[in-house]
Amino acid sequence: MTLSPAFPVRALRLGVNIDHVATVRNARGGTHPDPVAAAMAAVAAGADGITAHLREDRRHIRDADLARLRAEIAAPLNMEMAATDEMVAIALDLRPHACCIVPERRAEVTTEGGLDVAGQAAALAPRVRALREAGIRVSLFVDPDPAQIAASAEIGAAVVELHTGAYAEGRVGEYERLRRAAAQADAAGLEVHAGHGLTYGNVGPIAALPQVVELNIGHFLIGQAIFDGLAATIGRMRACMDAARNGAD
Ligand code: PXP
Repeated sequence: MTLSPAFPVRALRLGVNIDHVATVRNARGGTHPDPVAAAMAAVAAGADGITAHLREDRRHIRDADLARLRAEIAAPLNMEMAATDEMVAIALDLRPHACCIVPERRAEVTTEGGLDVAGQAAALAPRVRALREAGIRVSLFVDPDPAQIAASAEIGAAVVELHTGAYAEGRVGEYERLRRAAAQADAAGLEVHAGHGLTYGNVGPIAALPQVVELNIGHFLIGQAIFDGLAATIGRMRACMDAARNGAD
């Protein structure tokens, strides 16, 4: 890619999702490994922000983890949450830098699909407004679908996070959908993030999308850290992202 002043390459941030540090901690019911200590190590290794998902069932991150993340980590905190009254109240109290609203079903292993913003606009709009009025950047986790992007802009979100799960699974045509969705969202004035299922091997084409300014990555980084350590894993992911962003991939 040639860099031209007319189309400057935007900075690409890495948000590290530390949910699965809490998953391991909770397996034994104690305090180790501590997700807040992991967040500190991630920031020291080059993470630009920390993402944590407070699920309704508290299966990994708990309320006390979020409070400590907010108090002890200087980097921006992105709270993932369902669009429920309980979660909005917690966010308004916590005041994270950003909230990423995701669909949530108790039985799912992870966030399986994007939010149906177009179908649930009436219920989502007042919650987005309440968070926005509290100074929290609101991101909606959506599939790369034109109707969902348009609805996200209409209800006043600042950001869309594009769900890269189907791309990561190798679904044919999914990269093209992401490419078009990123351009559509950017043209609609939305900041564009992406995440889910990203690894060293598949992050490059997503990092190369010029409108995408933030990737949120969790499971692969925490899993790979078992072999290489968190700092080396984050460092290598950053290098993969930067190489793709700068056209060396
Ligand atoms: N972004 C969102 C909105 C998510 O729900 C998740 C999974 O919690 C991620 C990013 C990170 O996905 P993964 O853990 O597969 O990297």
